[in-house]
Amino acid sequence: MEQVRSLISILDLTVEEIDQLVATATDMLANPAAYAHKCDGKILATLFFEPSTRTRLSFESAMLSLGGQVLGFSEASSSSAAKGESVADTVRTVSCYADIIAMRHPKEGAPLVASQHALAPVINAGDGGHNHPTQTLTDLLTIRHEKGRFEDLTVGFCGDLKFGRTVHSLISAMSRYAGTKIVLVSPEELKLPSYVKKEVLQKRDIPYEQTTDLEAVMPKLDILYMTRVQRERFFNEEDYLRLKDSYILTPDKLYNAKEDLSILHPLPRVNEISVAVDKDPRAAYFRQVRYGRYIRMALIMKLLGIE
Ligand code: NCD
Repeated sequence: MEQVRSLISILDLTVEEIDQLVATATDMLANPAAYAHKCDGKILATLFFEPSTRTRLSFESAMLSLGGQVLGFSEASSSSAAKGESVADTVRTVSCYADIIAMRHPKEGAPLVASQHALAPVINAGDGGHNHPTQTLTDLLTIRHEKGRFEDLTVGFCGDLKFGRTVHSLISAMSRYAGTKIVLVSPEELKLPSYVKKEVLQKRDIPYEQTTDLEAVMPKLDILYMTRVQRERFFNEEDYLRLKDSYILTPDKLYNAKEDLSILHPLPRVNEISVAVDKDPRAAYFRQVRYGRYIRMALIMKLLGIE
């Protein structure tokens, strides 16, 4: 049997493949009708063992926009996982009903295990505090449209860099472009895990700095990637309450930012960006949401081998 192609880490795609996906998604934004029947007769299963609004609905919207159909569940309690079924058995089963599977799971590595047992491509839609490659594709499409390039960008990540899976995946992706510089802004307790520093930043010789002071580094940033403190990954509520409002971006904190800064956030936002920032033309996070549908359309077609 031919090996199916899954997407577990953003590094499963080459930079050339990412360029192709970005180009296809850009064409889809301009000519959606041309793609309306590309996936006629195909079925996407969304297996979400963790809450989601954008990721699950954008996957479903993407498949429906391609003429395909969707099925799935949005909480573990409504699936046989609640009876103790393993991820391997669940995906073996779902492979009989669907042509492609998007899976979100609280356990790091669960989508990888799923991909080893599924007969259909598996897309990692977020695994615990580890990775989130399709958010990264969304972020990359946003960056291409906002900045016009991937090279020579100084990207600041602010908030929960320890548990934020979108951060880990986007750092991996950006580390492959020439001239990338990374600025890490977080409380001491929520610093980027050392495995990401070692295996990505140090291995690829990416210049990076770590600080707790957002305003001090603001002037050098081309992109500011704000993140939510990941309450569900904390071991105790006191730590979460102490750290949750470490950074709150307000209009006055942007006084020394670049004119052409792009502010990204994977969303959901809790408190970390004041709604007053939404009016600032540099706030790109709602444009970013829109891109998520189109890049997932391009990805679904690619993994199904549809031209
Ligand atoms: C992110 C996630 O689930 O990791 N959201 C998303 O997919 N857009 C970020 C978050 O939950 O904070």
